[in-house]
Amino acid sequence: MSLPLSAKVPFGGDYNPEQWPEDVWKQDYRLFDSARIDLVTLGVFDWALTQPAEDTYDFALLDRIVERASAEGRGICLATGTGAHPPWLAKAYPEVTRTDFEGRKHRFGQRHNSCPSSPVFRRLSAELARRVARRYADTPAVLAWHVGNEYGGACYCALCAAGFRNWLRHRYGTLDELNEAWYTTFWSHTFTDWDEIEPPSALTEHWRGPDHTAFPGITLDYLRFTSDAMLTNFRDEKAAIRESSPTLPVTTNFMGMYRPIDYHRWAPHLDFVSWDNYPPDDESAARMALTHDLMRGLKDGQPFWLMEQTPSCTACRDVNPLKRPGLMRLWSWQAVAHGADAVLFFQLRASRGASEKYHGAVIGHAGRADTRVFREVAELGAELERLGPVSLGARTPARVALLFDWDSWWALELSDGPSRLVRYQQVVLAYHRALWDAGVDLDVVAVTADLSRYDVVVAPALHLLKGDLPQRLEAVATRGGSVLTTYLSGRVDENDQAFLMDVPGSLGQLMGVRVDEWDARGPEVVNPVRLGDGADQVDVDARLLFELVIPQGAQVIGTYLADFYAGTPAVTRNAFGAGDGWYVAAGLDQAGVSWVVRQVLDQHDLLGPYPDVPNLESAVRVAADGSRLLFLLNHRAEPVEVTTRNGGVDLLTGDRTAAGAALRLPAYGVVVLEEDR
Ligand code: GLA
Ligand code: ZN
Repeated sequence: MSLPLSAKVPFGGDYNPEQWPEDVWKQDYRLFDSARIDLVTLGVFDWALTQPAEDTYDFALLDRIVERASAEGRGICLATGTGAHPPWLAKAYPEVTRTDFEGRKHRFGQRHNSCPSSPVFRRLSAELARRVARRYADTPAVLAWHVGNEYGGACYCALCAAGFRNWLRHRYGTLDELNEAWYTTFWSHTFTDWDEIEPPSALTEHWRGPDHTAFPGITLDYLRFTSDAMLTNFRDEKAAIRESSPTLPVTTNFMGMYRPIDYHRWAPHLDFVSWDNYPPDDESAARMALTHDLMRGLKDGQPFWLMEQTPSCTACRDVNPLKRPGLMRLWSWQAVAHGADAVLFFQLRASRGASEKYHGAVIGHAGRADTRVFREVAELGAELERLGPVSLGARTPARVALLFDWDSWWALELSDGPSRLVRYQQVVLAYHRALWDAGVDLDVVAVTADLSRYDVVVAPALHLLKGDLPQRLEAVATRGGSVLTTYLSGRVDENDQAFLMDVPGSLGQLMGVRVDEWDARGPEVVNPVRLGDGADQVDVDARLLFELVIPQGAQVIGTYLADFYAGTPAVTRNAFGAGDGWYVAAGLDQAGVSWVVRQVLDQHDLLGPYPDVPNLESAVRVAADGSRLLFLLNHRAEPVEVTTRNGGVDLLTGDRTAAGAALRLPAYGVVVLEEDR
């Protein structure tokens, strides 16, 4: 089971016609026609409408909405409607609402307020999914099922405590095993009865919030449990859907780099991945590229759907800037360049009331087509139509992998010491930025992924080591590849216990170093690092974390210039097999990170076509028939001119470009070059 069938990149988004009268629907579809909108996501928040009381299901309105979309020839991504539960449910069964980290039992309100462990929620959400699927499975317009909405958050209620204990029994079998894994001899925590175990919250193991815990091992397991409990909610609904819809693909919309949910644990249970892209600002091109790649990597490189993005602005932030003219288009093409096989918006028409009334929409409150936003959407619709099917299913030919690991993210940020200032995402973003600047096609993959197809594996802040990863990293180097890792890697096992050996644990052989001590300093303290030698030598800044390294065979590439460890190694390279292991022991600034990453890429001749043109992104997708699409994305507010490497046809304009010709991209311009074969 994989992506929904489609003849071109589906274009459209969340559509909530239940919020306005039917005569408006007609206007909506005429506007959809002119914008080439061919897919609508329906019913994401319809539970209160489709089940107005426990023993009453009423699909009359949803029937009309689905019939209208079908009659208008649109594809439908149909939601089960469980993204928010109805008031009657919370009233009748108080157990369905969540208890928060502070121990406050929530009453009815907001959305995403369902306790994942509540048997009532599980039963009724699955029953709704069952009925929705039974009713609409044979509607030809329905292309995919959308379960829930943006699963996330956490619950600390008594039902979740019981669920946690069951999950622990399953994981550990005996209390002895659990006590050992959690290191409970510390602070008199030895558990003698499963019922003594409490969810780690502000009332139990935590102080100063969710990242400060007396027992990181307990908190780590609660994060895993929560991720699994919500996954069970998704799987309940999916199983109910499968009773009447054996083949239509099922998804739920992820949120990219979202810390509370380990999407690697979820991905095998989705037929295809979809995600919602709401970048924090308009300087986030590299971050979006990373997130698209992470989403594509969840299912072994299979394309994904961009389920939501705003056409113009968000409403949930304190300040909600507009996407400048051209940015919505550019970022949509960036998604396609990184593997999106659908480009969808939240939302097609703006809500009139409630908290999202100012959230951007393809159609605003006045229902006009003569707005800048509508025009840009319609132009993109026309371009996607022109593109046709060529990009669907096309894969990214990556020789470089960036490892991304929720366990390491959690363990690093829960840790007391060495530094609260080192944030997992920041480290990953810096190494990714270096790869992105170099124009490398890369996969962002789990630590369990098959690494045998990569020449370079970059593993920033690989704090927690599990399984056979160290051996698989060694295998990359043995056959001639390079592995790069950083400070705070190889520190703990999967229970968050330190290794009884030199840091970086079982990465030590590959890296040819041992880390003797580490020094954490405030952001104002800089220790310069000298990288390289001779003509290549550069001095860069390092901050936050400085590990003191004693080479065990590794060659020194960079040294600290200050403090009592001046002259000792900050960056090393160790020959291993036919390849090598690179260790970066300090929090290098971006220039330093990029310098090291370029050294590694150069060795393997892996730079992209325009590595020295800042903010000109390139990405390649290769279709099943071998056609090769080169996406060039100009993230600059001014034009840029480059020389083509290969000739080809720009699929957006039909223009031919010869190899070695000048190619001009306007500000925020996009070229999709189908290269000559
Ligand atoms: C999320 C949700 C949508 C909507 C948008 C607004 O992505 O899934 O329902 O709230 O945010 O940005
Ligand atoms: Zn709960």
